Amino acid sequence: MSSRKIAILPGDGIGPEIVAEAVKVLECLQQDFGFGVELETAAVGGAGFEQSGKPLPDATLDFCRDADAILLGAVGGPQYDSLERDLRPERGLLSLRAELDLFSNLRPAMLYPQLASASSLKDEIVAGLDIMIVRELTGGIYFGQPRGIRELENGERQGFNTLVYAEHEIERIARSAFDIAMLRNKKLCSVDKANVLEVSELWREVMMNVSVDYPDVELSHMYVDNASMQLVRAPKQFDVLVTTNMFGDILSDTAAMLTGSIGMLPSASLDIGGKGMYEPIHGSAPDIAGKSIANPLAMIMSIGMMLRYSLEEAEIASQIDLAVGNVLNQGFRTADIADGGNTVSTVEMGDAVIAALKALAN
Ligand code: IPM
Ligand code: MG
Repeated sequence: MSSRKIAILPGDGIGPEIVAEAVKVLECLQQDFGFGVELETAAVGGAGFEQSGKPLPDATLDFCRDADAILLGAVGGPQYDSLERDLRPERGLLSLRAELDLFSNLRPAMLYPQLASASSLKDEIVAGLDIMIVRELTGGIYFGQPRGIRELENGERQGFNTLVYAEHEIERIARSAFDIAMLRNKKLCSVDKANVLEVSELWREVMMNVSVDYPDVELSHMYVDNASMQLVRAPKQFDVLVTTNMFGDILSDTAAMLTGSIGMLPSASLDIGGKGMYEPIHGSAPDIAGKSIANPLAMIMSIGMMLRYSLEEAEIASQIDLAVGNVLNQGFRTADIADGGNTVSTVEMGDAVIAALKALAN
């Protein structure tokens, strides 16, 4: 089998620790599942800034363009907060998304039955939860121009950003979401603020136009304030949600927490051809960095998404999901999902997944 080129971007905080476990898993896939990989590591975020004065070094970008897929740990840390905006770690991530046109961000929120007690919500509200948030990732207020902080005539400063969506941007994220809905329960809820914003009015119109091509998918619309309430009131009413960059940022954190730990959730950011960057939903967690207590499972499951969405290796992907389920069944828990019992370190959790994978391979 030809080998796949994967760009490995550890980033900052707990990024390098969880990425190290992901690399072990990739090496195991190579050894025991015949999955050929070529791994190359590059710096991004604060690490990129340290290395070359830029959160997205040119070499890293070239490398990512050239790779078949990208695995990213996390970026950011308090030591970079005082840098000017363009040099901050988050800017590295945003530039990668924009430069590679990774407009479609898939953020699943799934409750593992083994971890039901980790959710802050009642069992019956979250049991069996399985929703997918499709977040537009390269447009909207995150990237709209003009933006900045300007001085008014009276000397007062004014901050401003622009929320814009062109029809083609709405259409492509709509198609992405409808395609995903077709693979699931065929229910799509588009989240907007069409009672106030013109851009949402257009968003809604384009969603309805695209829905004509997907007669099997039931499309509904919900205002974002209501959606945030419904997500904690009755999350199982949702199958696939599609929304803008900023609404998706907010709602995906809420959805993640329904599952008990944000340490369990992977994500994919895809371009129009399905090439993608894969990362855990959680951030760099600087408060626990270097302690080997971070949960590497979201990072490891990001490999599963990568195999499924970019590399056409669904079978190996399901082995990863199975292995993760097995280590949870065996009682392995990192601190974030511990519920009072014994905990294992980041490295021990990675080792447990590899042992489970090897058992599946035999
Ligand atoms: C996310 C993060 C990023 C975002 C930050 C780190 C720029 O919160 O991926 O959800 O806002 O998109
Ligand atoms: Mg976020």
